Parts: sequence; C-alpha cells; structure tokens
Amino acid sequence: MSTELRTKTTEEKSAPHGLWSSRMVFILAATGSAVGLGNIWKFPYITGENGGGAFVLVYLLCVAAIGIPIMMGEVLIGRKGRKSPINSMRILADAEGKSRAWGALGWSGVIASFIILSFYSVIGGWATTYVGYSISGSFSGASAETVSNLFSDLLGNPWKLTLWHTVFMGLTTLVVARGVHAGLEKAVKFLMPTLFVLLLMLVGFAMTTGHFGAGLEFLFTPDFSKLTTAGVLTAMGHAFFTLSLGMGVMIAYGSYLPENVSIAKTSIIVSLLDTVVALLAGMAIFPLVFANGMEPGAGPGLIFKTLPIAFGQIPGGIVFGTLFFVLLVFAALTSSISLLEPTVEWLEEHRGINRKLSALLTGGAIWLLGLVSVLSFNIWSDVAPLGMFEAFAGKTPFDLLDYLTASIMLPLGGLLVALFTGWAMSKESAREALDMLDGPGFDVWRLLVRYVAPIGVTIVFFYNLG
Ligand code: PHE
Repeated sequence: MSTELRTKTTEEKSAPHGLWSSRMVFILAATGSAVGLGNIWKFPYITGENGGGAFVLVYLLCVAAIGIPIMMGEVLIGRKGRKSPINSMRILADAEGKSRAWGALGWSGVIASFIILSFYSVIGGWATTYVGYSISGSFSGASAETVSNLFSDLLGNPWKLTLWHTVFMGLTTLVVARGVHAGLEKAVKFLMPTLFVLLLMLVGFAMTTGHFGAGLEFLFTPDFSKLTTAGVLTAMGHAFFTLSLGMGVMIAYGSYLPENVSIAKTSIIVSLLDTVVALLAGMAIFPLVFANGMEPGAGPGLIFKTLPIAFGQIPGGIVFGTLFFVLLVFAALTSSISLLEPTVEWLEEHRGINRKLSALLTGGAIWLLGLVSVLSFNIWSDVAPLGMFEAFAGKTPFDLLDYLTASIMLPLGGLLVALFTGWAMSKESAREALDMLDGPGFDVWRLLVRYVAPIGVTIVFFYNLG
C-alpha cells in the first residue's frame, strides 16, 4: 500500500473519529482484496468441476480452521513489523532471535502475485468484455446456446482477449501508479453493498427457475464419493486464494492497522464477507446450470455462460446485467491492485525506481506473461507442457500457472506464516501482538496455527504427491 495510507492513518489517529475510520479502512481494503474474481468466477467453476457439496464443505473448513488463523497471523506480523512484508518478517525474526531467512515469504509473495495477476487480468478482461455485451443487448432473450456461443467466440479470438486484457491491466497499472488509497476506499464503500444487492437479486431470479432446490442440493449436500484428493488440494488452495493469503497482502495491509483494533474480529469479518459472496454466487449460478441442462463442470466459462441467461430474461436485464459486470470489474480491480502493489513497492524500496515507472515496468511485464494465458484458451488450448506427468495431463499453460500459485505457492506461504507466528514467535510476543489478553480465543488461535494449519497443509500436499 502506498505511503498515503500511512500518512492518512497517522492523521486519523489524532482525529476524534480516527480509529473507527481506520478500522473501516482496513476492513474495506482487505475485503476489496479478498472479494474478487475468486469468489464470483473461480469458486463456482471449481465447485462445479469438483462435484459440489463435499468440495464446498472442505473449502469452508479450510477457511475456518486454516484461513482465518493465518489471516490473523499475517495481520499481526504487519501490525507489529510496520513495514513491507519482507522487512516486517525480518524485523520480527530479529526481535525473536530467529533467522532473517523468514523474509523469504516476501519473495515468494512477490513472485506469486506476479503470476496470479498475469492470468487474473485476462479473466478481468472477459468481465470487461461482458460489460459491452450487456449494454449492446446481446443477452436479451438469448438461449443458453446463444450465450454459450458468445463465450466460445470470445475465447477463440486471441486478439480480442489481448485487447481486453490490455484494458484491464492498463486500469490496474493506472490506479497503482497514482497511489492506491483515495480511489480504493471510495470504490469499495460503494461497490461491496451494491454487488451484494445484485447478487441477492440474482439469487432471487434463480428461485424462479424451478431448479433452485437442485442448485442448493448440489452446493450443500456433500457426496464424498465425488471428492478426489486433488479436489481437496484445490479446495484448500482456494481458501488461500480467495482470502488473499500466503503472499503477504494482509501483512502489507496489517502494517497500517492501529493498535487498539481487534485483529481477530476484523479477520473474521473479512473472511465471513468473502465467504458469503462466494456462496451467493454459487446459489445464483447452479440453479441456472440445472434449469438449462448445462454441465456444472463446464470450467472457467461457467459464470459467463449462465448469468447472461438470467439477465436476458429479467425485466431491466440490460441495466442490471451491465451494472453486474461493471461491479465485477471493480471487484476484480480492487483485488488486482493488491496483486500489483507488492512488486511495485519492492521496486520502489529496493531499486529506488519511482512509483510511476515501477508500476509501468511491472504492469508491462505482467501483461506480457498474461499473453501465455490468452493463448491457452485458443491456439494453445491443446498444449499441455507437463502432460508427460499423469497429474498434469491436459493442463494448459493457464491451468499450470493457476495450479502453481493457488495450489502450491499460496499454501506454502501460508504454512510459513503459521510456523512463524505459532513456533518462531514466543507465546508472549504473539499474545501481545494480537492483543488477546483474556478469554480462550488466543489459545484456540495458537492451537490452529501451531498444529491444525501446518499439519493440514502438509497432509494435503503429501497425499497429492503420492
Ligand atoms: N482474493 C482475490 C479474489 O478472490 C484474489 C487474490 C489472491 C488477491 C491473492 C490477492 C492475493 O479474487
């Protein structure tokens, strides 16, 4: 995050309503990072691919038992260190007499955010394209087949994908280059409630399809025979991805948090909001899938092939559809900003390159890597670079980048946070940093970061190696 936020926080501390507002700012920024394409695009499609209920249950368990404690860990590292992720880790490691190698988390975070943003921007580009489709009335009265063809045509056209990927990456770079704070706060304040209302409306429409029950059953009735070990890894990885954990984003945001704000409460609020948005998206989408005889496992195009059908049928669908995709783009932007920030900040701090130039350089490099994902949906759709390994058969370069980050790098980053706050930090410093002096909360947290999270992540990894 930019220095403006730091200045603002100090200013606000001396202002009468400073602390409340700063807590709000934190919740808004963290929720802005957490709620994004992960909730509305990714959660429904991976749930569809992994058979529904059992997958959702594992995901919810991972959010509660691993995600929330690790988010608290990241925020506490940030608030105590008061520096960028790499430096906060180093400062705390020094203070505990531990190796500075813990700063490695910052490094893996920079690399992971770089890779994630490269494909995130391509999907953000899809959402941007859909704003145009909606305004021009392409969805009006369209059948499932027409809507599906619209999507296939888009994916089949690398030029168009590149154009909108460029637009999305350009917007992200622009915001970061100008400093994040001012725009972000306003955007998220307006965005979250409106997105919420629109999702509720879509759920309302889903109730009229006659297949709402089937959708709910798919989402919430676990059938463990449909869950594979790979699915468990995907669910766990998604818990990290959707909460923006494992790469230091929450360390960076935590470094602006005032002392007397409860880290536990704010982390729980952010995680709950994030989860509710994902579940609402699922409840809006799956009834449409079943009502239109579609495949839940249709893959990354799922929301783009289903929601337009709803917008094509409801009164005022053009307005609502346009608003929905505009909001989706905004939600994606508040996440992509938090993905670009770490690298830009690193270039500024360590290479002395000014913010505008570093945003431009980083944005440009990420854009270039994004072309790999653009091509994965058309010209390279049959290219499986690691196809010789059974586990990666049929995985395109896009699939591999997603797998490498969400299923490997983020859980490993999270593991590092859990080990650091649970084992490397003494009980007293952790208790003091979390400011949880009484009640059983602290002991529960410590049990989760010391045992449940590390053992959980290790077991899931282990099973997937075998
Ligand atoms: N949490 C964001 C989403 O769900 C994506 C993200 C991942 C952002 C990791 C920052 C860090 O869309």
